Amino acid sequence: MERYIMKGGDPLVGEVCIGGAKNAALGILTAAIMTDEDVVIDNLPDVRDINVMLEAIQEIGAHVTRIDRHTVRINASAIGEVSVDDEYIRRIRASYYFIGALLGKYKSAKVPLPGGCNIGSRPIDLHLKGFRALGAEISVERGAVVAQAVELKGAHIYLDKVSVGATINVMMAATLAGGLTIIENAAKEPHVVDVANFLNSMGANVKGAGTDIIRIRGVHRLHGTEYSIIPDQIEAGTFMCAAAITRGDVVVKNVIPKHLEAISAKLQEIGCEVIEFDDAVRVIGKPCQMHTNINTLPYPGFPTDMQPQITVTLALAKGTSIVTESIFENRFKYVDELARMGSNIKVEGNVAVIDGVAGFSGASVNAPDLRAGAALVIAGLAADGYTTVDEIGYIQRGYECFDEKLRGLGAVIEKVDSDKELQKFRLRVG
Ligand code: EPZ
Repeated sequence: MERYIMKGGDPLVGEVCIGGAKNAALGILTAAIMTDEDVVIDNLPDVRDINVMLEAIQEIGAHVTRIDRHTVRINASAIGEVSVDDEYIRRIRASYYFIGALLGKYKSAKVPLPGGCNIGSRPIDLHLKGFRALGAEISVERGAVVAQAVELKGAHIYLDKVSVGATINVMMAATLAGGLTIIENAAKEPHVVDVANFLNSMGANVKGAGTDIIRIRGVHRLHGTEYSIIPDQIEAGTFMCAAAITRGDVVVKNVIPKHLEAISAKLQEIGCEVIEFDDAVRVIGKPCQMHTNINTLPYPGFPTDMQPQITVTLALAKGTSIVTESIFENRFKYVDELARMGSNIKVEGNVAVIDGVAGFSGASVNAPDLRAGAALVIAGLAADGYTTVDEIGYIQRGYECFDEKLRGLGAVIEKVDSDKELQKFRLRVG
């Protein structure tokens, strides 16, 4: 079983380059099957969730050609199957994007219903509400969502809760519906805008993405395109927190600083220096960082996907911080693991009360999910002595070459897959 082993205590220093946004890519890859022409997608992160998605796209008959590690060509003209079902696709929740893409193009889709996951129950009722409003009949049969329509007709859809997935999914289906669709209370996340820009580059008519009202005028067909995915806001934020928690000095390159404003603001509040450049941010940690309060909210609020990374950072800040998780009900699971490193955090419902401690000591911990796993790694890099993080398959779902990028900043970290390799690391590092 692969795990990370690290010896913490040194500040991270240097430059790191951020890859393409996983959550934008998941939407864009599925949207790419909505045309029969060639689509070339660049700046794709080479991470597990993306590779699973590409396999699923191939599985239903599309041709996928890897041009290089971060570029693919997709041609979906040979899709012969509107039923997506392989054992892997069930493991990624974003498989729900197949419903919007297939329903839009073929007016028919059958996709396994994603279950709950480690961060919460994660219903998709709002996605289904949107598809029904567009005229689809939806049922759940043997664990799969079955969606069918004679034709899709534009509609006025109010999303009761701000949902990234529902906004993207309904937006995709509506691009090929007749007439005008208006999505109200839409999510404004950068990846919603990126999927909208991608659809527009294929000839769709989507306006207002990035605001809470998106207007989609349906078109008859979409055409081929070449598109480059935006940088990953959360990967960038994770490295920003890594700089802060290790009291380091890191230039995080290939980012859109505007997307990072909530994270930059909080790091500044606790005393870090954050310098913005055109396409980079530099974070300089300070020996004594101060407490603050954080509430996760839809964009432009503080992202739930950065909650574990900022919480571990606050666990080494002076004073008491309060972090409220407003999006997912089960996103503090890693706190018990962090306690093994000596943190002092109490969780009541969706609120964590963090009493900052002077230092962590290395321990063996388990990654409970993707972002919490990354947070435990950066905590380990700030801890005295050795830390091992198990279950790193979660981390590899969303971070490309995480250990390699950290080593580039001076971290003493390695991926090992046996006790023997672990011992070797200890002997070598001393
Ligand atoms: C996306 O999930 C991301 N995943 C998540 O990224 C991210 O945490 C989340 O948005 C919030 O930003 C992808 O983009 C693939 P939501 P999504 O619908 O779209 C409730 C990561 O670490 N809700 O915006 O599934 C839901 O329970 C991850 O990369 C409903 O009630 O999230 C939650 O409370 C994990 N009914 C809230 O809305 C619905 O039909 C927001 O969820 C849909 C959502």
